[in-house]
Amino acid sequence: MGWRSSFSVISLFLVLLWGGTCEAREAFACDPKDGRTKNMGFCKASVAMEERVKDLIGRLTLQEKVRLLVNNAAPVPRLGIKGYEWWSEALHGVSNVGPGTKFDSLFPSATIFPQVITTAASFNASLWQAIGRVVSDEARAMYNGGTAGLTYWSPNVNIFRDPRWGRGQETPGEDPVLAGTYAASYVRGLQGTDGNRLKVAACCKHFTAYDLDNWNGVDRFHFNARVSKQDIEDTFDVPFRMCVSEGKVASVMCSYNQVNGVPTCADPNLLKNTVRGLWQLDGYIVSDCDSVGVFYDNQHYTSTPEEAAADAIKAGYVVAHIQLTSRFSFLTTGLDLDCGPFLAVHTQDAVKKGLLTETDVNGALVNTLTVQMRLGMFDGDPSAHPYGHLGPKDVCTPAHQYLALEAARQGIVLLKNTGPVLPLSPHHHRTVAVIGPNSNATVTMIGNYAGIACGYTSPLQGIGRYAGTIHQLGCENVACTNDRQFGLAINAARQADATVLVMGLDQSIEAETVDRTGLLLPGHQQDLVSKVASASKGPTILVLMSGGPVDITFAKNHPRIAGILWAGYPGQAGGAAIADILFGTANPGGKLPVTWYPQDYLTKLAMTNMAMRASKSAGYPGRTYRFYNGPMVYPFGHGLSYTHFVHTLESAPTVVAVPLNGHRRGNVTNLSNRAIRVSHARCGKLSITLQVDVKNVGSRDGTHTLLVFSAPPAGAGWALEKQLVAFEKVHVAAKAQQRVGVNIHVCNLLSVVDKSGIRRIPLGEHSLHIGRVKHSVSLQPQALGIIKS
Ligand SMILES: *[C@@H]1O[C@H](CO)[C@@H](O)[C@H](O)[C@H]1NC(C)=O
Ligand SMILES: *[C@@H]1O[C@H](CO)[C@@H](O)[C@H](O)[C@H]1NC(C)=O
Ligand SMILES: *[C@@H]1O[C@H](CO)[C@@H](O)[C@H](O)[C@H]1NC(C)=O
Ligand SMILES: *[C@@H]1O[C@H](CO)[C@@H](O)[C@H](O)[C@H]1NC(C)=O
Repeated sequence: MGWRSSFSVISLFLVLLWGGTCEAREAFACDPKDGRTKNMGFCKASVAMEERVKDLIGRLTLQEKVRLLVNNAAPVPRLGIKGYEWWSEALHGVSNVGPGTKFDSLFPSATIFPQVITTAASFNASLWQAIGRVVSDEARAMYNGGTAGLTYWSPNVNIFRDPRWGRGQETPGEDPVLAGTYAASYVRGLQGTDGNRLKVAACCKHFTAYDLDNWNGVDRFHFNARVSKQDIEDTFDVPFRMCVSEGKVASVMCSYNQVNGVPTCADPNLLKNTVRGLWQLDGYIVSDCDSVGVFYDNQHYTSTPEEAAADAIKAGYVVAHIQLTSRFSFLTTGLDLDCGPFLAVHTQDAVKKGLLTETDVNGALVNTLTVQMRLGMFDGDPSAHPYGHLGPKDVCTPAHQYLALEAARQGIVLLKNTGPVLPLSPHHHRTVAVIGPNSNATVTMIGNYAGIACGYTSPLQGIGRYAGTIHQLGCENVACTNDRQFGLAINAARQADATVLVMGLDQSIEAETVDRTGLLLPGHQQDLVSKVASASKGPTILVLMSGGPVDITFAKNHPRIAGILWAGYPGQAGGAAIADILFGTANPGGKLPVTWYPQDYLTKLAMTNMAMRASKSAGYPGRTYRFYNGPMVYPFGHGLSYTHFVHTLESAPTVVAVPLNGHRRGNVTNLSNRAIRVSHARCGKLSITLQVDVKNVGSRDGTHTLLVFSAPPAGAGWALEKQLVAFEKVHVAAKAQQRVGVNIHVCNLLSVVDKSGIRRIPLGEHSLHIGRVKHSVSLQPQALGIIKS
């Protein structure tokens, strides 16, 4: 006890000192007190960054350089540079999953937001950016206190392709535009928008076609994803492209798997040509943890470790076929940083063997060191940095924790509400039976890649703020292997005015390295829900926690289950948000970011089949709402409200001229049935604007998510059902109306991808759908006369 109390006195003392003269963290480099280095070029904040980087590289020996190619970068004491751990994580709050971040007595916890799949369901881009801002405030505060890094390997923006994927929970869902918008918004929040300076450096991962962890004997370390050019261009690449070109992310991580026979971390076409060349990444490319080792040891992609090192850094010897326009003359690298020791161990020998030159190593260092400079790590005294004032008082603040609550409220999806039974009333539902293995969940609510939360409000606690509760787990845990506690649960339901069953999954069912084998509720959960529903005195509400979709057809059709909520993994305040929605303090506005398939869907496709498009002849159903039109439990975009909204299209163009690039050659006199290459159109800001009136015809205020889908004219093999082209979130008071302007970029959003992977704008009638409203817009080639054939 004595130790404990004196410890907290010391930490209180330190807290009081914070912000005074006490320097919390020593300089990473360029310490103004260090007479040896302060006049060296790389330390001069007034000098152009590329000059500083060149100066520093010029001073390093090859041996020193190769030790900077790994996450656990070695110090260079003679140049006053400390070691640095690159690996930190902040998927939905500062996390201690990476070794770069630790919680301690000064920083015992951080604000843990809902898991990303839940936050994505809000369809609110300003919320995503706001969360990023809060997370980076807390990250900077912890960095200042010496307990965190500045380089965060988040977000995960892989497409949630298959409902079984254990890491689908970490992603923004199955739609490329949703995922890309999430990526760009969250990255802007994390990195800040102060020009070239970085608040923290984010990382979009895992590039690319990574969405299988461990299924039916195939694991991510050995999986070769066979992906068509069409699917790469119109599905897998989209969130990464938007993350790099719109979000300006400072890093991209390549994945463990191979794509079409080449490890992504050694593929010059992916790294050099696409990420750096086409998308112009201004930042570094990092491997997934030990993936360079993986492609040597597990995939036997090269015969020596030195070749593996060389292949990664150069991303192969193939000469890039596109000209790189870059501010650095020698920026031609593939991988720049290895999460894992492999490059530190083998790169020097690779240079000795002539597989790689020192210039190649320099190229990698330019990319990593520039990011560190943009973070201010070479600017000397860390307390003089613009974020140098942040400290323990800036972590878990009431405002931050309120945003975690708000995010959960915005993300929870109301799937069913017959009657309507919801919201419950504290006057009529004075006693609520709270039942189920997730009914008093805490850690389960934050999913994976989380940290230590500031505190939790479990569903039981949340509901307890509105009503008396009778609590029964019903099953010991989500596996629910027996019915021993069913009797107690049924009894509770018989006594209460309403019954809330909090069921679903947790990390024992879906996680990193754990893909699901089925979509039904585990064990006897379904049986528990049905029995309790049949016995309960009052209305029964089912609340589901899960990242991936669950086939709950039985509950959808069950006459005694009047309400169903999907809470995802709703974060530290999840139970409060669930209760606020159940009792109507908050009006739900979330929409499903993935298709909820029936269990039977799984029998029709192997998880290893990457094809997005359906094939009737092969009996292959296709994936996601864009390509699958079979039976569903709930569709992508489903989500109810306690009020009703009606849309009317106030204005929209019916014909849009697409100006063509005058340099085109060939016979273009008849384009009416064609799809022109995006690269042959003068895209610029060419867009169409819709004005939509959203009227709240109910008696409660609410938020509405306007989803705009387009269906292109039928054509040569794009086989697309429809695609999301825009979404807007709008708050509308009861009986009021709001006009929403929606802008749709023609080349980016109304284009499709042909079988060769070429993005094209189909000319002719595109059908836009906004709820029940349909509108047709015809894209026509403009000024044929200017085209010389
Ligand atoms: C619910 O969980 C909280 C926090 O873990 C715990 O303190 C409390 O005892 C639990 N309540 C019940 C009824 O199990
Ligand atoms: C161009 O196409 C038109 C219409 O299909 C056709 O009549 C004409 O002969 C073509 N011209 C050439 C030069 O191929
Ligand atoms: C242009 O193509 C369309 C569709 O194939 C066809 O109906 C139309 O007759 C063609 N026009 C000319 C001038 O060839
Ligand atoms: C989106 O989220 C932000 C941040 O929580 C909030 O201020 C805003 O009201 C939300 N938008 C809508 C339409 O609900």
